[in-house]
Amino acid sequence: MTKCWFDYKTIIVTGASSGIGKLLAEKLIRDHGCNVIGIARTESKLVSFKESLGQFSHKFSYFAFDVSDKDKWTSLAAELEEKGIRVDILVNNAGILPKFDRFENYTLEEIDKAMQINFYSAVYSMNALMPHILKSDCASIINVASSAALCSLAGTSVYSASKAALKSFTDAVREETRGRCYIGLICPGFTKTDIFRSQKESSSKSQKAMDMVSTDCDRMVRLIINSMWKKKADSVFGIDAHLMDMGNKLLGTVCSDVASRVMKLSGLEMFRDIFYDKKN
Ligand SMILES: NC(=O)c1ccc[n+]([C@@H]2O[C@H](COP(=O)([O-])OP(=O)(O)OC[C@H]3O[C@@H](n4cnc5c(N)ncnc54)[C@H](OP(=O)(O)O)[C@@H]3O)[C@@H](O)[C@H]2O)c1
Repeated sequence: MTKCWFDYKTIIVTGASSGIGKLLAEKLIRDHGCNVIGIARTESKLVSFKESLGQFSHKFSYFAFDVSDKDKWTSLAAELEEKGIRVDILVNNAGILPKFDRFENYTLEEIDKAMQINFYSAVYSMNALMPHILKSDCASIINVASSAALCSLAGTSVYSASKAALKSFTDAVREETRGRCYIGLICPGFTKTDIFRSQKESSSKSQKAMDMVSTDCDRMVRLIINSMWKKKADSVFGIDAHLMDMGNKLLGTVCSDVASRVMKLSGLEMFRDIFYDKKN
């Protein structure tokens, strides 16, 4: 193991029961000797992840709660203080991808849920834990947004808004805490995880198309760790994410237009409700 600034540190990772968060937690434990406190709603998944760590399982502890419940963050901060557990790093990774759809088809409850989980959860966790984390000599917070924060596409109004809010919030707090805390922002593109479970049934054609543009989860996590290692302010990962980032910078709304037309032309079932009226 090459020496790295976060070796053996204590790190909270939200969304540690699956996908990017789970693999990130595993690599931080196995490759960097970190103590990881994982957070997610489904306790059974956290338990089986802990068991899967074998001889490293003592390095993983967890709290099963909904990250959009602000009281849980307050209680967690109090519990950490009471037990004298010092947390050095917070990774706000938990998130959901609402079904691709037109804005007019979302209920206000669905919109509120996405904003709560994808954006407010980071506000709540940072509000409760920043005073605690700032006491560490390597205080750090890494927020996982999305390429959707960089360029908005048809069907992603709510998701893009939640991730763009997280990006703006992160960028501002970075400047306020410069020299006291490392604040990183990660904008992944499509990554092979289960996050697409709420999308319309994927045909093998959809699956193939998604696989073509998606980054392998293991590769994505290695890129995230490398970004943390170098203390990068912001990182965009994945070919699709780079195209969206560059396209938006160069072409602005034309990029959103072209990409949305490509989604329509693809004929994929999961994009159907965006472009065609729902059948009754
Ligand atoms: N995969 C992609 O293509 C992609 C692309 C760009 C950005 N991202 C972002 O990367 C992050 C991780 O996504 P992923 O692909 O790894 O998704 P995933 O496989 O669906 O994992 C999401 C994790 O978040 C947890 N979670 C969701 N809602 C939660 C809540 N309310 N409270 C607590 N935990 C919650 C889930 O556990 P429980 O369900 O048990 O709570 C799970 O552990 C997300 O923020 C996502 O927006 C993903």
